[in-house]
Amino acid sequence: MKEDITEILSPELCAIKIFEISGAKFDPDIAAGLWPRILQHKWLMSEKLGRDVGLRVACIDFIENMEQASEEYLAYKQRDILNEMGAQTIGKGIWDTISDSQPPKQLVQKKIILPLTEKALSKKHGVIPPKAIIFFGPPGTGKTHFAKATAAALSWWFIEIAPSMLMVDGTEKIGANLHKIMEKARNLEDAVIFIDEFEEIAGSRDDASRIDKSITNEFLKQVPLLKNQGNNILLICATNYIRQLDAALLRPGRFDCVIPVGGLNEDERKTILEHYLSKLNTGEIDLGRIIEMTSRFTPADMEYLFQQVAQFAFERELVTKQDYRVTTDTIFEIMPKIRPSLTDEIIVEFEKDSITYSRA
Ligand SMILES: Nc1ncnc2c1ncn2[C@@H]1O[C@H](COP(=O)(O)OP(=O)(O)O)[C@@H](O)[C@H]1O
Ligand SMILES: [Mg+2]
Repeated sequence: MKEDITEILSPELCAIKIFEISGAKFDPDIAAGLWPRILQHKWLMSEKLGRDVGLRVACIDFIENMEQASEEYLAYKQRDILNEMGAQTIGKGIWDTISDSQPPKQLVQKKIILPLTEKALSKKHGVIPPKAIIFFGPPGTGKTHFAKATAAALSWWFIEIAPSMLMVDGTEKIGANLHKIMEKARNLEDAVIFIDEFEEIAGSRDDASRIDKSITNEFLKQVPLLKNQGNNILLICATNYIRQLDAALLRPGRFDCVIPVGGLNEDERKTILEHYLSKLNTGEIDLGRIIEMTSRFTPADMEYLFQQVAQFAFERELVTKQDYRVTTDTIFEIMPKIRPSLTDEIIVEFEKDSITYSRA
């Protein structure tokens, strides 16, 4: 809005101006609240008509259609924000790529999706739908995947706040940008706001530089603001390093759930392996053996394995000009080239963290 002259107008002046223009009388305090909305309305009318609409016309139109005008402005503003923040819709299919037995899936279903979709029943029993959650676990275990799947299951927008969005104006401005972005995000409806590498912006203030501290402080202010909003917004933060988060953030009252996303059992690996196998040109496959051999694989490792297998098969057929079918042997030929991400040490540390930090 170009014409932001609200700051220099006292409530009394707002009331006088509105009275002069439209003949409508308002209490100075109410007039002061209406004045910026009249300016917004002027902007929106001009935008729609493709020409500058005068203040008089906008003011009269606003007063006549006050309720509709603010609704329209909100809807318009929302579309603007969604565009600007790169909101995506995620197809429902993503939810089915996760095995029902995966503990985070059950938790997300019970503690997040159902309370948000069964609002009346939640209210009846005093269940408070979540506003902010954390996923933690080793890299590649599916935290981002879960955040997207949650948005898909809710049929909400998915908006990722990348660290680069916060750093556009340099490191000094990260806190200020976080403030601006969260302020915008709070106006949205039906949106999952996802912050990856959360430890980067909400690291412990004990061992952080001055800049980091201001970002963490800003974040500590933003979470309660979000929780006080009545709209459908879910903040999901993900981190590989839960221990690095500031302790104040992890206290109850800030995040509703802190959910571990770890390694996969046989059944969970089966679902993912079947998903990736279904995209290949396969011959005979001993799924049981592949499941056995991938115990230390994360979903990201499996994805990488199957990309390599696909490329191998593709090249083979290019050379031989004969239908090439991927078999168990093909997969075992490629597998040694991929180092599984999960080691004993990582698993032990993750289990400790799960005991210390999980909260649902
Ligand atoms: N349950 C799953 N089924 C199929 N693919 C998955 C699953 N979980 C994760 N992936 C895939 O594995 C890759 C890594 O997962 P990602 O969510 O990026 O891990 P993280 O965010 O924990 O580092 C992604 O490409 C994702 O699509
Ligand atoms: Mg991720």
